[in-house]
Amino acid sequence: MDGVALTRRGLLVGIGAAGGAGAMYAAMGALGLAPSEQDKGFTAPRTGDFTLRGKASAKVVILGAGVAGLTVAYELGKAGYDCTILEARAKAGGRNLTLRGGDRLAELNGPAQDVKFGEGVYFNAGPGRIAPWMVTLDYCRELGVPIETFINNNAAAYVHTNGQTMRARTARADMYGYVAELLAKATNLGALDKAITKDDQDRLLEFLRRFGDLGPKLEYEGSDRRGFMKYPALDTGSPIPAPGTLHQILAAGTGRAITNDFGYEQATPMFQPVGGMDAIVTRLVEAVGAGRITTGAKVTKITTLDDGVEVVWTGGSVKADYCVAALPPHLLAKIPNNLGAPVTAALKTPVPAPAGKIGLEYGKRWWELEDRIYGGVTETDLDITHIWYPSHGYHSERGLLVGYYNTERDAELYGALTPEDRRRRALTQGKKIHGEKYRQNLLSSTSIAWERQEHIQGAWVRWPSFDSSFTLLQRPAGRVYFAGDWLTHLIAWQAGAMESARGAVTRLHQRVLQSP
Ligand code: ALA
Repeated sequence: MDGVALTRRGLLVGIGAAGGAGAMYAAMGALGLAPSEQDKGFTAPRTGDFTLRGKASAKVVILGAGVAGLTVAYELGKAGYDCTILEARAKAGGRNLTLRGGDRLAELNGPAQDVKFGEGVYFNAGPGRIAPWMVTLDYCRELGVPIETFINNNAAAYVHTNGQTMRARTARADMYGYVAELLAKATNLGALDKAITKDDQDRLLEFLRRFGDLGPKLEYEGSDRRGFMKYPALDTGSPIPAPGTLHQILAAGTGRAITNDFGYEQATPMFQPVGGMDAIVTRLVEAVGAGRITTGAKVTKITTLDDGVEVVWTGGSVKADYCVAALPPHLLAKIPNNLGAPVTAALKTPVPAPAGKIGLEYGKRWWELEDRIYGGVTETDLDITHIWYPSHGYHSERGLLVGYYNTERDAELYGALTPEDRRRRALTQGKKIHGEKYRQNLLSSTSIAWERQEHIQGAWVRWPSFDSSFTLLQRPAGRVYFAGDWLTHLIAWQAGAMESARGAVTRLHQRVLQSP
C-alpha cells in the first residue's frame, strides 16, 4: 500500500512541476484521488446566466413532488424559472415518507391506518439511510438539514439463519476464522505454489493469522472476537461457548447476512436526517415555495406542442414552455400523451418492484436495556428479512423498530395481508430472535406496502436490462423531460432521484439558453 501511495505521490509531484495545477488535478482524477467529473460536474442554473445573454427564463410544469420533482424545481428556481408542480398525492415527498402520530396512511384496496405513535417517535416508511458519497448529503448540507449517524452494521445485532440466532460478531468471527484457516492450510499444502511466490505466501499467512485470529498452528480455535456471556471487568469474563465445527458454521448459512454491508452502497458509516427523513422534503418544499405545489392534482393528459406543453389534470390545465415528468414510469406510461409510441413503450419497460416495512413502537427500549443493541440491523433468512433498531433517541422511554423490511415475494406476501395480520406475522417472526419480549410492551404499529400506495404503486423499478429504453428516456420527448431514480444506476436511492433531476435541469437549461 505504502509503496503504491509513494509512487503515486512521486508521479503527481512530477506532473505538477511540468504541467501546473490543472494537469495535476486531471491526473489526480485519473488516479481516483480527486473529485470525479460527477462531483464537480453540476453547476446550478443562475439568474446571471440569463442577464448575460439577454434572455428570459421559462415556465416549467413539473409532474410529481417526489424527491426528483422537488429537486428539479429547487435547482431551476435558483435561476428564476417559473415552476409549478402537480402532485397527485395529498402531500409532497413521494416515497420519502416519514409517519408520525396523527398521520393517516391510506392504501389501495385496503383499510387506512391511523398512525398512533407517541410524541417524538417517527417511522421512515421509505428511504432510511444515506451513504456519505451520495449527493443527498450535499442537499442536506445546502438546505440545512441536520444529519446524524445511521448505524447499518452493529456487531451486537443478531444474525438469524437456519433457525439459529447469534450475534453478528460471533457469526463473523467464526466465518472469517474458518475461511482463514482453510486458506492457510491450502497455502501450506502448496496449493498456491503456482499462483504466488513463497514470500507472498508468507505475507498471506501473516494476514490470515490476523484476519481469522488463528492460533499458533494457523488453526481457528475460537476467539474472543466472538463475544462474551459476561464481558471482562474485574475478572476476565465468560466467553461464549466454543464455536461449532466448520461444517456447522457453513450449514448455519450466515454468508449473506454478514456481508450485507460490504458493498459501496451499504458500507458504514451511513447517515440519516435528525428527526426523520422527510426533513429533506420539508426544506425542499420551503425552498421551492409551497405555493408552487398543487397537491391532489392527478395528471390526465400530456401534450407536447411546437411552442410549449399542455398538461391537463383533474382540476384544470396548465400551459408551460417545458415539462419535467418525475412520476414513476409505469404510471406515466398510462397517462394519455402525444410523446410517441417508442416513449410509451420505453416507459413500460421497467418493472415495478414491491417492498414493505412495519414500524413497531414499544413502550420500553428492551433492545438497548436487555440486548445491548444500540442501532443497527439484525439480518435474517425469515420473511421479515431485517429488523432495524433505531439509531437515535437512545435511552429514551419509547422507541420504534422496523420489524420487517422486505422486497419481492416476501413483500408481496405481507402486502397482501391486512395491517393487523402483518403485525401478527412480524411479531411471530421477531419472537424467534428476541423471545417473548418481542410481543410485550408493543404500543402501536403501522405498516406500508409500497405497491399499494396510490400514485406510486411500487417501491422502485427493475430494468430487465439498461437498454435503448433507458437511453431514450434520458432525452426529452419534444418539450417533455423525464427525471427519477429509475433513470439512473442509483435506483431506490434518493441520490438517484437528485442526480437525475440535476441531469434534466442541466439539459433543459442549456436548451433554454440556446433557444432563439
Ligand atoms: N436504498 C434501499 C436501501 O437502502 C434499497 O435499503
